[in-house]
Amino acid sequence: MLKSKISPSLMCADLINIKEILNELAKENVDYLHIDIMDGEFVPNLMLSNEIVKQFRKITNIPYDYHLMIKNPDHKIDWFDLRENDLMSIHYEATLDPKSVLKKIKSKGAKAGVALKPATTIENISYLLPDVDFILIMTVNPGFAGQKLIPETLAKIKKTRLFLNENGYENIRIQVDGNVSFENAKKMRLMGADIFVGGTSSIFKKDLSISEGIALLREAIDGD
Ligand code: DX5
Ligand code: ZN
Repeated sequence: MLKSKISPSLMCADLINIKEILNELAKENVDYLHIDIMDGEFVPNLMLSNEIVKQFRKITNIPYDYHLMIKNPDHKIDWFDLRENDLMSIHYEATLDPKSVLKKIKSKGAKAGVALKPATTIENISYLLPDVDFILIMTVNPGFAGQKLIPETLAKIKKTRLFLNENGYENIRIQVDGNVSFENAKKMRLMGADIFVGGTSSIFKKDLSISEGIALLREAIDGD
């Protein structure tokens, strides 16, 4: 099984106190910062601001994990401050030519991911796999934090992991996003997920500190 990584979802953070939060996340050695970019077209919501997110680089060097929920990302990749060691995923459903967008992301030294809505399957995207570093399996419909897990997506994680392994793609990672609660994270890990997006169900859960949320998430993923 690939080593687990965690990616706190900044849209769930208290953005008024972002400086303290970014420092705390760095202290906790999180692997990435999950950055949801929504255009109000591909999903019925609008956030985060690309220009504001660029400013956060002044106070953190944690790699970014961009999740683009935007229509036609094809000509928009250059808008982002994409650096080596960052992740960037685009939605398979958002473009007619995902392959060339993935190649563009990789040409910048970043890792390229293909994000799948709950209804899209691994078979739909098998032709993209030579150009993919990770697959983002949405475990809720993209657009909003605080939703309930779609239970069928657990079996999809397992099926995706098996498909990848059987076809020589053991190194492609599986990221999960949406209601990654402590309880669900444990199940997702058992099914083969290895990058966990932590939002309002874990790292930014009400009444828990960030360090408590991270400790509980890590325990759920890799504890006994
Ligand atoms: C959407 C977001 C949300 C959110 C997840 O792509 O990434 O799914 O942060 O956090 P929860 O579902 O725990 O509120
Ligand atoms: Zn996301």
